[in-house]
Amino acid sequence: MSLREYEALTAGTTTYSADRHGPKVLGLGGGRCLKLFRRKRLLSSSALIPYAKRFAVAAERLAQRGIRCVRVRQVARVPAIHRHLVEYDYLAGETLRAELVAAMDQPGQLGDLMGRHAAFIAELHRQRVYFRAVHFNNVIVCPDGELGLIDISEAHVGRLALTPAKRARNFRPMVKYDEDRAALLAYGVERFLADYLAAASLPPRAERRFRRALARIDPLLAGTMAR
Ligand SMILES: Nc1ncnc2c1ncn2[C@@H]1O[C@H](COP(=O)(O)OP(=O)(O)O)[C@@H](O)[C@H]1O
Ligand SMILES: [Mg+2]
Repeated sequence: MSLREYEALTAGTTTYSADRHGPKVLGLGGGRCLKLFRRKRLLSSSALIPYAKRFAVAAERLAQRGIRCVRVRQVARVPAIHRHLVEYDYLAGETLRAELVAAMDQPGQLGDLMGRHAAFIAELHRQRVYFRAVHFNNVIVCPDGELGLIDISEAHVGRLALTPAKRARNFRPMVKYDEDRAALLAYGVERFLADYLAAASLPPRAERRFRRALARIDPLLAGTMAR
């Protein structure tokens, strides 16, 4: 994409997120978003498969598995600004993090959201999806109540079933940010894990391995029923 085409595409946009290198996510209007990716290091895996491309591949594979996520319109390279970009559709709804913060003093609403999220994570794992950045700001609560994924360049949709240890590792991003931890604590970590395990229905040995792996990741996740 030429600089002129890029400037035409991004004229009059809203910035949804930015960092010290500039805008990262732009609202293009008409229900479309644009995410910009810069190459962080000269010799990095993104040189092989740019994150923009990974984003598009993940979107396709997630949709094939029936997981709600953004729909990609185009992937492009803009040499003039040293960026790759993905244009995709906005997923109507609020982030799970924003919904949970708003529901902190409404136990019923908080319970409903957290229960559904536990089942959603179990469904991702059942579909062999390992999304490294699955914290609550990359999950959207859609108007029809379904949960969907955004920011998916690190969503790996695999062929092999996820091991109990890998499932446990995927809880790390959920306890990384203070707001997400606060929501988990308000709901009850053991309750969230029980909801997840009820939906995942792992064999007893796998469940024990999962619990042991969780405890090694963060004491918060040690729960009460392991051992
Ligand atoms: N498709 C989308 N639908 C809804 N909100 C979005 C969408 N894409 C981005 N956003 C909003 O923009 C914010 C940043 O987007 P994201 O892709 O998560 O970028 P980053 O985490 O790199 O800042 C999100 O937290 C969300 O509020
Ligand atoms: Mg994000």
